[in-house]
Amino acid sequence: MALQLGDTAPDFTAVTTEGTINFHEWLGNGWGLLFSHPADYTPVCTTELGRTAQLKAEFDKRNVKAIALSVDGLDSHLGWINDINETQNTTVNFPIIADENRAVANLYGMIHPKADNTLTVRSVFVIAPDKTVKLTLTYPASTGRNFMEILRVIDSLQLTADYSVATPVDWKDGEDCVVSPAIATEDIPAKFPKGHRVIKPYLRMTPQPNKDN
Ligand code: BEZ
Repeated sequence: MALQLGDTAPDFTAVTTEGTINFHEWLGNGWGLLFSHPADYTPVCTTELGRTAQLKAEFDKRNVKAIALSVDGLDSHLGWINDINETQNTTVNFPIIADENRAVANLYGMIHPKADNTLTVRSVFVIAPDKTVKLTLTYPASTGRNFMEILRVIDSLQLTADYSVATPVDWKDGEDCVVSPAIATEDIPAKFPKGHRVIKPYLRMTPQPNKDN
């Protein structure tokens, strides 16, 4: 069965462009972003890995380590990194797993045979410090992902892990949040002293609790 939210992210040992890693050990106590791409030396993938490198400061700020994967070999990855650096005006600053035997791809269900029998699709897994899977995304080869959206979801995951709120449609860091349905309206003032609005008994809004707003 495909990996589901709340499952423990499978551990593995793999060869990467930054040496052999044990995944859980490498993650340490932080968050992880594991994402696959169909193949090296392909245009969309080149832009995606370039963007991930450019966003390193944003991932660092959120204590997230990124790691990419395709079923190409180490030499291919290393050669392609030069092209990514050159064409995307960046320096690849995260490991790329060389998953030639598809061990990790199979563990994470990254090959969807009806889309392509051999290549990984564009899978995304966000993994929390307790090693549970908090987000899965699957995009086809023809559509590059939006890494700002991935950062946005990570902001929501990190916020809602610490506070009894959820984030509404199109929410961005700093904007008002929904008070969790588990909180009784009479308990809101004590929990959310910045204030709240009751729009409907089930729709209560509050300023983002971990921001000075
Ligand atoms: C790409 O990254 O551009 C790509 C990879 C596989 C199929 C189609 C596009």
